[in-house]
Amino acid sequence: MQATAPRPLARANPGLVPQMLNHAAWVTPDVAATADFYTRIMGMELASTIFDDHVPSTGDDFPYFHIFFRMADGSTLAFFEAPGVPPPSKPSHPAYDVFNHIALQARDRDEVLKWADWLRSNGLDVIGPVDHKGIILSIYFHDPAGIRLEITTPIDREWNRHTEQGYADLARWLECKRRAEREGRDVPTALKAMIGEVRKRYAA
Ligand SMILES: [Fe+2]
Repeated sequence: MQATAPRPLARANPGLVPQMLNHAAWVTPDVAATADFYTRIMGMELASTIFDDHVPSTGDDFPYFHIFFRMADGSTLAFFEAPGVPPPSKPSHPAYDVFNHIALQARDRDEVLKWADWLRSNGLDVIGPVDHKGIILSIYFHDPAGIRLEITTPIDREWNRHTEQGYADLARWLECKRRAEREGRDVPTALKAMIGEVRKRYAA
């Protein structure tokens, strides 16, 4: 287990917090399909493009086309097409394909349902709507590059203000995991047992 000793000279955060999502970015093997999907299906504006023969931040010699698509609040999703780059290797476990995703917010429940209908009418496989314990309502699908997308709307208006519960959950999770590790027990099994207990919180 990795030690997490406090850093004695660490300063308190001077009030810095990111203001909004500027962009999240991925590699696409087909920028034409990506542009069609995000403009026509997702209704986003083509916001900006850049192409270059090297990467400014690292100096890497990867020629690329970089493209941004804008959502209603000004935040963007971005992609790089870099011809000659081979496909990524497969994840080591299917959980990565389930858990790694980005969620985009719809106005309300009706709009989530409209999204599901619209996406299905365009031939996309859509999971849901799924009611996540009365907190958010979501549907799931994939873009042409295989990125897992979620359209969601909060059911609980305070869904992202459960800070106290969040710290309690984090402590409970870490304690359960660390105790199982100390005692040489199987960690996923120990966590499953703990989750079974906590699930009562969500019981109707
Ligand atoms: Fe999500």
